[in-house]
Amino acid sequence: MRSLSPNQRSQSIEESATLAISFRAQQLKAQGKDIIALGAGEPDFPTPEPIARAAIRAIEDGKYRYTPASGLPQLREAGAKWLKNAFALEFSADEVLVTAGAKPALHMALSTIVEKGDRVLIPAPYWVSYPALVRMADGEPVVVPSVPDQGFVHTADQIAAAADVSGARGIILNYPNNPSGAVPTRAQMESIVRVAAQRDMWILSDEIYAQLRYDGAEYCSPAHFESGRGRTMVVGGFTKSHTLTGWRVGFLAGPKDVIAAAARAQSQVLGNACTISQEASLVACDEPPHEEIARRLPAFDARRKFLVREINEIPGLRLGAPRGAFYAFVDARKLCAERGMTDAQLCSRLLEEQFLATVPGSAFGAPGFLRISYAAPMKDLEGAVARLRAFATVKVAP
Ligand SMILES: Cc1ncc(COP(=O)(O)O)c(C=O)c1O
Repeated sequence: MRSLSPNQRSQSIEESATLAISFRAQQLKAQGKDIIALGAGEPDFPTPEPIARAAIRAIEDGKYRYTPASGLPQLREAGAKWLKNAFALEFSADEVLVTAGAKPALHMALSTIVEKGDRVLIPAPYWVSYPALVRMADGEPVVVPSVPDQGFVHTADQIAAAADVSGARGIILNYPNNPSGAVPTRAQMESIVRVAAQRDMWILSDEIYAQLRYDGAEYCSPAHFESGRGRTMVVGGFTKSHTLTGWRVGFLAGPKDVIAAAARAQSQVLGNACTISQEASLVACDEPPHEEIARRLPAFDARRKFLVREINEIPGLRLGAPRGAFYAFVDARKLCAERGMTDAQLCSRLLEEQFLATVPGSAFGAPGFLRISYAAPMKDLEGAVARLRAFATVKVAP
């Protein structure tokens, strides 16, 4: 039927690779297979009790009605305070929009600032949704090839060259990075901001993993720099640090006029982020900065070190130590070459033969790698390493 069919734009949007793998893993699990699922980036810690209790209290107190589309005024205020206390980011309450998580924050930002046909730089590896989100805003994603030999942080020259060739109007940055765990130094960030400023490009900085850093990696936002502050929109929230994954609440911070326009878009599309989750987020904003993450970080760090140690012992695989987030981005190029397969085929065989769910690097614009989430208990990681070893060391017929 021609009258009712998906339009061209929606046909260019692929299903999220991580969700597709999770779905297949669930199918195998339903068949009774002993699946180790390390595909999804969802912390295994529960939502902290004071936050959960605040949500229950909100329902009991009848605080479940619509809020302004931009969010509860007191949460915009609290969010601005939290961004300042936890990240030294200076935004006023009217420069903060409460959204239904980081993903809608990115969508509201892009649909507000991208003009039709604008090119947007996306350094690889990138979080899977960025290209689709840019296309949905009628922009054109321009992927900057990944630089594994540089610890996945591009030089200013590489970004400048990509900007000049494409004529890009903006760039999406994501540090700590999903999937590579890369965290640039302050000097590296400053030089990238300088490139953007020289070309009058906007920056959308996805900082949803800002609190998850290791080995002394420094948090640094493009909005920290004078030349970056007015051209940067920051995406932040408690999704990953406090397991507010299913709660659907987060922040977008940026210049007041852009935030007001994003709030107007949100008012038409979403209305407001879940009121109950907003009430609970007030408690999260009020806790001493980094308290919850301090409880979690030692466990993440032990898992990270375990994976680096063990995976580097497996023939054909390499893993540089991630400096942030909770993903190991394993270099499987040697194993893939030896077996004559792509990373997607490798992931598929790991799932079908070893019952281990990972995500291929090609989903993040970096073929030859595979992403393992260590937001999972140690026993799952031990099992995963054993299965990877079994797969990598099995004799293949010449
Ligand atoms: C880099 C990055 N940005 C955004 C999101 C989405 O976060 P939320 O669940 O808050 O929408 C994720 C989730 O995996 C992510 O890894």
